[in-house]
Amino acid sequence: MPITTARVATARPARYLRQLVSHMGHKAAAALTPDGRGTITVAAGTCSLTPSPDRLELTATAADAESLARVQDVITRHLLRFATQEELTVEWSAPIDGGRLEPTDPVVAAYLLDHHTPADDVLGELAVATRDAAADAAHMQVSADEGALLTMLTRLVGARFAVEIGVFTGYSALCIARGLADGGRLLACDVSEDWAAIGKPYWERAGVADRIDLRLAPALETLSTLGTEPAIDIAFIDADKDNYPAYYEEIVRRLRPGGLVVLDNVFLGGRVLDPAYQEDHHLAMRRLNDLITTDERVDSVMLPVRDGITIARRR
Ligand SMILES: C[S@@+](CC[C@H](N)C(=O)[O-])C[C@H]1O[C@@H](n2cnc3c(N)ncnc32)[C@H](O)[C@@H]1O
Repeated sequence: MPITTARVATARPARYLRQLVSHMGHKAAAALTPDGRGTITVAAGTCSLTPSPDRLELTATAADAESLARVQDVITRHLLRFATQEELTVEWSAPIDGGRLEPTDPVVAAYLLDHHTPADDVLGELAVATRDAAADAAHMQVSADEGALLTMLTRLVGARFAVEIGVFTGYSALCIARGLADGGRLLACDVSEDWAAIGKPYWERAGVADRIDLRLAPALETLSTLGTEPAIDIAFIDADKDNYPAYYEEIVRRLRPGGLVVLDNVFLGGRVLDPAYQEDHHLAMRRLNDLITTDERVDSVMLPVRDGITIARRR
């Protein structure tokens, strides 16, 4: 619930932004980014400011509705005070629940699903078998475009040793295994024998079963059995969210230079953007997303693919 936006029409968006950040920087934490955006954090919450040619876009977040109203009020008052040469209208949207955000418009999302190398029969039938067996839990499976992305990234890095954390019925494992170089191996970690058993016949049919080393144990235990040398070419993290920071750490220290770690669900259905959500997995993912951004061991990018994907490449 505590996210709100305002699009303020103006001919001077960058100027007001700089004035606001500079003025409010005396009493609050305020900063300009090199690309010309601004962030102001007051006691009640945070407002980010993005200039575009004919407007200033404001996004305010806070832990609850009352705090959000205070952020809106302080930003609006200061902005109006600086606009001495034009009359601005600052109309905030009704508060939005982060859990209801769509990373991409559903029309665009459907178009994306229609425009990648299509899943072949084996993957298509595994998706159907998963829906039949897992009902509502089938949503845990990566989408066909994410699967195509995983195969492509695995091929691009010429992977010979891959790790997957969170196998479920084996769709993403199949996609990664298919991208491996000759003689390559996927260490696939999960705790559920039942889910993995659904995927195994499809791994056989695709001719990749002998490349997949399925380990049924908590993934941190399995990772701790790996040596400490940087041998991993690509890793995909898609399991219990509370443990993402620990998985990331265990993987990054073992990634070879140029190797990739790919993390799924980094938006948590939009909840990661909304400070009202304070459960352990929300806090863990928020912290990890921030940490990766400044982690000097990697270059990273976060993409609005489905529920958000981060790709980090070891320097
Ligand atoms: C989102 S699903 C993975 C989906 C899979 N990547 C796919 O595309 O089909 C998450 C999986 O993580 C597994 N999991 C949960 N906790 C785990 C743990 N501590 N160690 C290993 N796997 C775990 C679950 O059993 C589940 O199969």
